[in-house]
Amino acid sequence: MSTRSRIAVLASGRGSNLQAILAAIEAGRLDAEVVAVLSDKPDAPALHHVASERRWARSPKAFADRDSFDAALGDALAGFRPDWVVCAGYMRILGPAFVARFAGRLVNIHPSLLPLYKGLHTHARALEAGDAEHGASVHFVVPELDAGTVLAQARVPVEPGDSPETLAQRVLAVEHPLLIASLQWLVAGRVAEREGQLEVDGHPLFIPLRLDCAGKLNG
Ligand code: GRF
Repeated sequence: MSTRSRIAVLASGRGSNLQAILAAIEAGRLDAEVVAVLSDKPDAPALHHVASERRWARSPKAFADRDSFDAALGDALAGFRPDWVVCAGYMRILGPAFVARFAGRLVNIHPSLLPLYKGLHTHARALEAGDAEHGASVHFVVPELDAGTVLAQARVPVEPGDSPETLAQRVLAVEHPLLIASLQWLVAGRVAEREGQLEVDGHPLFIPLRLDCAGKLNG
């Protein structure tokens, strides 16, 4: 039986982070398998990166309320028996019951240097603030939006003349290696989260790991 980690990905859109995961697996750089892609958008392009039996997508409009959608998503997700659940461009807030059900194995990639710019429009907000640097974070998910403990970050410079689009492109280019490097540590069992405190190799992590130019994480 395979011992590779079973990764499920939640995605609402394009799926470039999912593609990065699949490419890393294919290249032998990530000892894992993408067992499912789940979406709140039945037409999400991300779904097409995996075989149909590994897809689940429903519109929340078909459900009575947020909790019943979350329960259906959670049941489908549990059926794929994931070791790790990765939110990669999943644009819907996950309710507390869902988060509790997958606690400790639920991570998200967010396009900002958290705790800065939780929520939407992060690139425009970094530009408006006149920040010299921007970036992306991989964090554990808690019920409060984008507020969970940050495992790792990657930084990019803000260049003169940047628009939200050019800045988003520069951030996306580091998101992919950041997500892969984070997943390498997670699937290797090097990271544990206990009540909001992260431990790496058994030691408390007080500041996020940083991605270096070679695509490796450093403490
Ligand atoms: C990424 O910037 C991710 O950080 C954000 O949404 C975007 C998704 O991109 N949450 P993709 O669907 O992985 O291409």
